[in-house]
Amino acid sequence: MCGIVGYIGEGQAADIILDALKRLEYRGYDSSGIATLEQNALHLTRAVGKLSHLEAALQSKPQAGQIGIGHTRWATHGGVTEANAHPHVAGNKVAIVHNGIIENYAELKTELQAKGHEFSSQTDSEVLAHLFLDALGQGQTGSAAMQAVLAKIKGAFALAVMLQEAPDQLFVARNASPLAIGIEDGLICVASDAMAMAHLTRNVIYLKDGDYAALGVDDVQIYDRDGQRANREVIRTTASPALIDKGGFRHFMEKEIHEQPEAIAHTISAMTAADGALRTGLSEADLSDIQHLVILAAGTSNYAGQIGRYWLEDIAGIPVSVETASEYRYRAPAHLAGGAVIAISQSGESLDTLMALRHAREKGMKVIAIVNVPESSIAREADVILPTRAGPEIGVASTKAFTAQLTVLFALAVDFGRAKARLSAEDVAELQQKLLAVPGAVGAAIASFEQVQPVAQHLKKTPSCLFLGRGRLYPLALEAALKLKELSYIHAEGFAAGEMKHGPIALIEDELPVICLLDEDTLSAKTISNLKEAEARGATIILIATQTIAKQVDFASFKVVIEDCDPLLAPIILAVPAQILAYQTAFEKGTDVDQPRNLAKSVTVE
Ligand code: AGP
Repeated sequence: MCGIVGYIGEGQAADIILDALKRLEYRGYDSSGIATLEQNALHLTRAVGKLSHLEAALQSKPQAGQIGIGHTRWATHGGVTEANAHPHVAGNKVAIVHNGIIENYAELKTELQAKGHEFSSQTDSEVLAHLFLDALGQGQTGSAAMQAVLAKIKGAFALAVMLQEAPDQLFVARNASPLAIGIEDGLICVASDAMAMAHLTRNVIYLKDGDYAALGVDDVQIYDRDGQRANREVIRTTASPALIDKGGFRHFMEKEIHEQPEAIAHTISAMTAADGALRTGLSEADLSDIQHLVILAAGTSNYAGQIGRYWLEDIAGIPVSVETASEYRYRAPAHLAGGAVIAISQSGESLDTLMALRHAREKGMKVIAIVNVPESSIAREADVILPTRAGPEIGVASTKAFTAQLTVLFALAVDFGRAKARLSAEDVAELQQKLLAVPGAVGAAIASFEQVQPVAQHLKKTPSCLFLGRGRLYPLALEAALKLKELSYIHAEGFAAGEMKHGPIALIEDELPVICLLDEDTLSAKTISNLKEAEARGATIILIATQTIAKQVDFASFKVVIEDCDPLLAPIILAVPAQILAYQTAFEKGTDVDQPRNLAKSVTVE
């Protein structure tokens, strides 16, 4: 989280950096700031809150300079205040922007304070500015100072540094946090995401972990972690240069909900071979050799993995475990031979998932990645990439990336089933037809906005609610609860419906909303019994269900009903009304739908 930008060129740095930061606001929106250097003087503007506040501050007091750095913050150390906003400046000589966490900042700060350095923020990042000042004070050059600073700090970071004494250079470094360098005639720039500078240049260098660089226009000097000069390839980025707009929708999330039929269709078509067969891109050797799978992911991507497990086990007969990425890395999981990991990530940058992936790789496991951002860190570290073709997802709450992930996971189950001869050619064709029907069914489910409205009106007044599901719809209940809590700030928990009687049923009191995801499958009668048990204890039952089964639940206070669909693929289709419910409830409550409090789209800290 946090987005960093740097620029040197002929344009006004503050304007160019502000424009780039707008493309990075998904990484954090607690505060932002820009520092420029002009005629030997550092200029600094910072503002708390959305980027629009920084823009207003810069409009009332423009900031000159053709070199600068900028930052959009997701707070880790220190509250959301202007003093804690980046850039951090030390001695009017050093300005830094930082993404990540300096784990040993407290001891470094104590050492620096003992030397007389005075701090004006509570952040770990400000330590970096003072470490630079200290190194420069000892007569070191920018690059040597960077090397000295890197030798002292621990943690995951990407940083950009501007020095008063080097008005034509920026100094940058990365370790586990993303950083891309953009090169063009007459300018050089850096950003946490190539997308932020794709309108300036398509020529991009991705630094490797431990790298640092001194950057000037037409002068790129990269060093590896041992201080040796390093060559890093310049690639043509595929990141979109367009600043994405809401296309007439109220929010990006609303737009992205509506984009799902297209996102799913694109994802299927990218997995369709010239002869029309469904092929994920995993080689035939992998499909037959891989004997079990470990899915690594966080948040919504993890829930996609949990649904995927049902398909992979049921359709392909492959044992699957789904791991919370932040936990997996610090366990000593017993690794069986013949396994592979699947890292699932919309952003491809979640540090927890990236670190879990590295942990698995160290144990010798093959790494498959399901990612939505093709140049992301996870994509670049994977052995095989199975891309979701959802297009850029801007709303912090994941919608179209989730259903696209499910699409890839279903296709993967079919591909494994085929290659392992568990499915006949007819079975494969039938499953493929079912998958091809999903974009249309999702399109029809989007029409549930109207049905959801009275439910949202009701839910917005409640402090707490439960989501229930069984089988493939159990992880969807977890996802629906996450969606509602992150958007509307209403406490919501998801449970396996059959688990209620083992404890959670104690939570039920008069009028507690119990929202059930239901379709017509072998478990639906049991789920309806579980719902009856909740209703008998005073719960208000809300159903999100397919048409035929919905008719059997005559005791529900509210129903959101979609057309009947194949139960196997119901999680993808029923996800849509669940997303709409979270969206509409948040809209009714007046919360910030696209940028909910305390969250960020790309979580690059542990
Ligand atoms: C989704 O609505 C959430 N904002 C969040 O749980 C997200 O899915 C999680 O942080 C993982 O992100 P990733 O898919 O980019 O790795």
